[in-house]
Amino acid sequence: MTLLEIFPSLRSGMTSPRLDSTVWPCETHYDDLGQITVGGVVLADIADQYGTPTYVLDETEVRRRCQAYRKYFPDAEVIYAAKAMLTKGIVRWVAEEGLSVDVCSAGELAIALAAGVDPARIVLHGSGKPLSELESAMKAGVDRIVIDSLTEVTLLSAVATRKQQVLLRLSPDIDVHGHPAVRTGVIDQKFGFPLGSTAAKEAIDRVMRQPMLELVGLHCHLGSQICDPDFYGEAIRRLVAEMSRVEHEYGVTLPQLDIGGGHAVAYRCGDVEMDLSMLADIIEDALDAACALNHFARPRISLEPGRAIVARAGVTLYRVMTVKHIEGGRTFVIVDGGMNDNPRVALYGARYDAVVANRHPTGPHMTATVAGRYCEAGDILAADVQLPTDLRPGEVLAIPCTGAYHHSLASTYNGVGRPPVISVHEGRCHEMIRRETSADLLARDLG
Ligand SMILES: Cc1ncc(COP(=O)(O)O)c(C=O)c1O
Repeated sequence: MTLLEIFPSLRSGMTSPRLDSTVWPCETHYDDLGQITVGGVVLADIADQYGTPTYVLDETEVRRRCQAYRKYFPDAEVIYAAKAMLTKGIVRWVAEEGLSVDVCSAGELAIALAAGVDPARIVLHGSGKPLSELESAMKAGVDRIVIDSLTEVTLLSAVATRKQQVLLRLSPDIDVHGHPAVRTGVIDQKFGFPLGSTAAKEAIDRVMRQPMLELVGLHCHLGSQICDPDFYGEAIRRLVAEMSRVEHEYGVTLPQLDIGGGHAVAYRCGDVEMDLSMLADIIEDALDAACALNHFARPRISLEPGRAIVARAGVTLYRVMTVKHIEGGRTFVIVDGGMNDNPRVALYGARYDAVVANRHPTGPHMTATVAGRYCEAGDILAADVQLPTDLRPGEVLAIPCTGAYHHSLASTYNGVGRPPVISVHEGRCHEMIRRETSADLLARDLG
């Protein structure tokens, strides 16, 4: 008999790098039986009750992250980028914590409104907003619309039935060197207008001439998974200079500067995340310097974190289907989910950890690749992770830091419905989104 078997409570005191608090929700522990609990709920029990795969979301962690932003940026507007993860429950939490909400479609807008978010706290984004979405946003009374193209100036002016506040999205030519799919501060990409370009000047000019549109500020979004806060300082310097130019040319002082989101989170132990305290200092210093240099009144800063609010709050549960040792190759642990519920590995080459959730393994480990059930060789969830050599079909695997861009990016490939979202809080769980069934899929198929 091992010491752990004689004194199971020793397990809860064990420190394990796999439960690193930079990757897991703060309320994650091993219980006396060696099972992982999040928000006071045993993950294996959730897997039993709701099936797998299942997204688990820790409400306390989401609220804590909102509170951290409010603490470090007391004078800024913190706008939750709802594309990271959107359900009525989540937007309600972030709104209760004092955040505004950024939506990028009529569908996201409808969810935010259904959750009771005040339209005066909603900002609409998007690189190709259809006329009907602009109309819905106007009708709903969203506070600001971020203009992304010259066509949008025309469309918005055509549907405006009241004065609409707008921001103009500019790319400040800042390369954050991330994955090309999320590098949006450079000139040659699809969003907004290159700072200083003829098109940008034309857009500002057209907005200024539209009586129903009120330009209240500039916007940029540099990319995602940005660890170095200096990039934001540089964006502020460049955009404040442009705001000053607008003031000189039109006699209008723009009061708002939205510097987007993109703050890095740690997906695996040892990954670097954005230091919010450093970011706050750099923003302050850059604002002071840029406003002094350009003799420009200090604008209100808006930040748009998405993943930094919800990524760490999420844990995805899978059931092991089989373990395959390929002769001369890798060991694959095949689970009952995969690229449908987590397309980030295939899209961005994202890396994750995976651990056994239904017991605390103390024996030998093997290097394995967790792969999904879908008909693609690239359907991988976590490559080269350490898992117990005695891992068996039926056991529950948990992949942490899966709260952002998982539920929202999920698909129904191979005719498999999307997983439910189960929130946990103070020992209780709540089904926020139910599992998608074959009946749901068939309901859309009109034959
Ligand atoms: C305009 C805008 N703001 C904010 C975000 C949120 O980014 P992240 O989730 O990396 O913070 C995005 C993400 O694509 C975005 O496009």
